[in-house]
This record gives sequence, structure tokens and C-alpha cells, in this order.
Amino acid sequence: MNILLFGKGGQVGWELQRSLSVLGTVTALDHDSTDHCGDFANPAGVADTVRALRPDVIVNAAAHTAVDKAESEPDFARTLNATTPGAIAQEAARLGAWLVHYSTDYVFDGSGSRPWVETDTPAPLSVYGRTKLEGERLIAEAGAKHLILRTSWVYAARGGNFAKTMLRLAQERERLTVIDDQWGAPTGADLLADVTAHAIRHLLRHPEDAGLYHCVAAGETSWNEYAKYVLACAQIANPAIEIKAKEVAPVPTSAFPTPAVRPHNSRLNTGKLQATFGLGLPHWQAGVARMLAEIL
Ligand SMILES: NC(=O)c1ccc[n+]([C@@H]2O[C@H](COP(=O)([O-])OP(=O)(O)OC[C@H]3O[C@@H](n4cnc5c(N)ncnc54)[C@H](OP(=O)(O)O)[C@@H]3O)[C@@H](O)[C@H]2O)c1
Repeated sequence: MNILLFGKGGQVGWELQRSLSVLGTVTALDHDSTDHCGDFANPAGVADTVRALRPDVIVNAAAHTAVDKAESEPDFARTLNATTPGAIAQEAARLGAWLVHYSTDYVFDGSGSRPWVETDTPAPLSVYGRTKLEGERLIAEAGAKHLILRTSWVYAARGGNFAKTMLRLAQERERLTVIDDQWGAPTGADLLADVTAHAIRHLLRHPEDAGLYHCVAAGETSWNEYAKYVLACAQIANPAIEIKAKEVAPVPTSAFPTPAVRPHNSRLNTGKLQATFGLGLPHWQAGVARMLAEIL
């Protein structure tokens, strides 16, 4: 089986290079790849790549993920998150190839406290959310066999993330202030990559299960509780680390105004994914503890 992976250097893309390798031959591209165009600013070039390589499965981990920056460059965000994924989907439909794509809790407005299900009506609050939603729709409309996994609060051992930022700040400051009114589930890029590989194997035998799924680690937390957990884990993983912060004070979102509005309720219900693919999802704390043990 030939697999074409876009966005190979991102959090999820990096882990996909590992998890997809047992399924077939993986051609992995990034925006600056030279053999084939992997630059999502160039939808026609990316479509040419799909036509030239004729993959059986395309996995797209590339995206414009700078949520605040997207507010000031909506056209660019739209090209990366919607136009190019749509162009890939058109080529996938012509080839009869599968397309796997990732989307986000930011397609929802964050109201209420119930975990969102796939049939809930999206109402994005930001350019990032709107462009990701448009990407989902263009893929579905293109008629390609597809799997879209909506996820949230992604972290990985590689690259920067919230947990690493908290660790750094806690070694510099006596007091941290962290938002306590946004709720979701931190989800490891490694978990997403493993679920993706399992789901592809399943879909090759059960194409009728194609479609949209929510995929996050089990449990829920706020950014404030997440930060406290990170600091507690860090002390266990490496007792030599000197944590100066004595307090992680809870503050409302309004204490940190940002260009992009974020949803308060990012909880995603994963019942459909678990039932369809026969998978269990580990608790978010297990993955975060593992990532910290790996980096410390
Ligand atoms: N991160 C989150 O918290 C989160 C939450 C919900 C959903 N998601 C979704 O999950 C997926 C994977 O996200 P991630 O966390 O792995 O993001 P990430 O680490 O920011 O990776 C994004 C990838 O896209 C690439 N990229 C940026 N501009 C590009 C361009 N012009 N052409 C081609 N590639 C380009 C990046 O390459 P460079 O690094 O070289 O620029 C990187 O490899 C995305 O669809 C994202 O929307 C993420």
C-alpha cells in the first residue's frame, strides 16, 4: 500500500511517520520538500503531487495551526486549512484513494458543558475554526472516501506545547496564573497517530464506516488543572527540577485577551469512534505523564 503523508514535521505528522510505517510505503512531505510539492500555499502544486504519486491513502497532518495569527491572515489560513485539503480531496475522489484529515474542537462555539457529538451544529468563533470547518465540508463534498478526526489540545514530546511552557514558567516565577474556564482533553499526537493507523486498517475492510469522528483522550480538565498536573508530574519524573512556583492561580479567560476567541467547552464525545473502531481511549493524564517522563 502506498501512503502519502503531508505535514510530516508537525506534532501529529511526526508521530504518523512512525505509526503508518507498518501499513505500507510512506512518502512523507513538508512545505519545503523538493521532490514533490508539499506546500499547502500552492493548492495546484499539491494536487499535482497526488496525481503523480497515485497513493492508496493520503494522510493530511498539515494545517495553519497558529490560532491567533490566523485572525490577521484569514486568506492564507483558508488556503492551508480549506482550499488545499479540498483540492486533495478532489484528486483522492478521482483516484479512488482514501483521505485522512484532522479537524478541531474549535469548530464549536464552546457553549454548555455537554461533550459535543459529531451531529452537533458547528458555530466556530475564530478564523482558524471557520477555515477548519470549511476544510471538513470541502472534503465531504468532494466525494472521496474519507476519515476526519476532530481533536483538541494536542501535545507531543517533540516541539513546543502548553506543558513545556508551564514547566519553563514554573522554574522562573513564584506564581503562575492559568485559565480555569476552558474545558477539554489534552490529547497526545502519538495517540492520534496510533488511532489513525488502526482506523485505516479497519476502513480498508469496512469502507461503510468512513466519515467524521471525535478523537480525544478520555477524561476532561481545565488549563489550570492541566498546568498543576504537569508540575506535579515533573517533580516525580525528575526530582532535580527546581519548581519555583508555589501557586497556580485560577483566572478567567478574560484575564488573557487574545486575537482569536476560544471555546469554553471543548469537550468532545468519542463514543462513535470507540464503538465503530473497537478502540478504547486512555485517560489524558496517562499520556501527559508519559510525555513528561520522556522529555525530562
Ligand atoms: N495543535 C492542536 O492543539 C490541535 C487541536 C485540534 C486539532 N488540531 C489539528 O490537528 C492537525 C495536526 O496539528 P499539529 O498539532 O500536528 O500541528 P503542527 O504541529 O502545527 O503541525 C502543522 C504542520 O503543518 C505544516 N505546515 C505549515 N504551513 C504549511 C504549508 N504552507 N504547507 C505545508 N505544510 C505546512 C507545518 O510545517 P512547519 O512546522 O514546517 O511549518 C507542520 O508540519 C491539524 O489539522 C490541526 O488543525 C490540532
